[in-house]
Amino acid sequence: MPAAASQRPGRGPGGGPERELAPLPPAPELRPRPGRELALRLPSPVQELADDRLLARGIRLLLKRDDLIHPDLPGNKWRKLGPNLAAARAAGYGGLLTFGGAYSGHLRAVAAAGYYYGFATVGVVRGEEPLPLNEVLAAARGFGMQLTYLDRAAYRLKTGDRVLSRLRAQFGDCYVLPEGGSNALAVGGCAGLPGEISEPFDVICCAVGTGGTLAGIATGLAAGQQAAGFAVLKGGGFLAAEVARLQQAAVGTAAANWLVETEFHHGGYARRTPALTNFIDDFEERHGLRLNWVYEAKMLHGLFSLAAAGRYPPGTTVVAVLAG
Ligand SMILES: Cc1ncc(COP(=O)(O)O)c(C=O)c1O
Repeated sequence: MPAAASQRPGRGPGGGPERELAPLPPAPELRPRPGRELALRLPSPVQELADDRLLARGIRLLLKRDDLIHPDLPGNKWRKLGPNLAAARAAGYGGLLTFGGAYSGHLRAVAAAGYYYGFATVGVVRGEEPLPLNEVLAAARGFGMQLTYLDRAAYRLKTGDRVLSRLRAQFGDCYVLPEGGSNALAVGGCAGLPGEISEPFDVICCAVGTGGTLAGIATGLAAGQQAAGFAVLKGGGFLAAEVARLQQAAVGTAAANWLVETEFHHGGYARRTPALTNFIDDFEERHGLRLNWVYEAKMLHGLFSLAAAGRYPPGTTVVAVLAG
């Protein structure tokens, strides 16, 4: 079991005394294309999970099933994209352009969003074109996304003026979404999640890749509630500053009600250990739910490890967000 280490925001990045956050601006109107209406399951369900290991410690666990929002736009994908699509529409853009690796769920989700909401989409993919296309890129293409490839050196400079103006010259003046879809508007979208949970809770947990989901969830918490993010990549020490930057961009200040756990990455992004595989198999046997191993399994394994180490006092209610 990995030792529990955390990046507590405190003062500095993510820190400062807890303050009232500025209210988020209302999202502009967004409608799908006629004939392509989406049945979004919102608010997403909350399910209580009775697990002996937690119950023995007096801990109640609720799962926030954002993975059930929509098969093509699950969880944080929908929450992050919704306000961006509305902003793109309000600003008159006809196209969306974004970035990702060859297995990026974000690329696929942007392609789906374009299909449903009537935007042309361009996916800028890191590395060479895999032939035949893998299932993620094939699905993105199936939704009508134009795919283009940048070698790793150019990809590193993808948001610099030179690469962006080359892309704009090729594909027109698109609304540009960052890799992973995490920007200030995305934080605003994720901030709506805690308000959908009617049960009182103390701590809410999510997996952290780029930090936008954690930044948003923490922004939407009530006084006294805490958010814990579990980094799915190795060397996640930088993520606390990134979460703070995103909160600053979204609401003008970074809150002190969250932290990033950095010791539960199991070898790094899209890597796994036998301990993680055992945890996933055991969890499925106990609860009939197969966890997403890249993200949520790492978060839940971390949460169970911290609970076993006595992090949460008896009487604590924890929400775990399944975001995809
Ligand atoms: C299923 C799932 N959970 C969690 C995350 C992490 O979100 P973020 O990149 O906002 O930290 C992602 C990434 O998009 C994801 O796909």
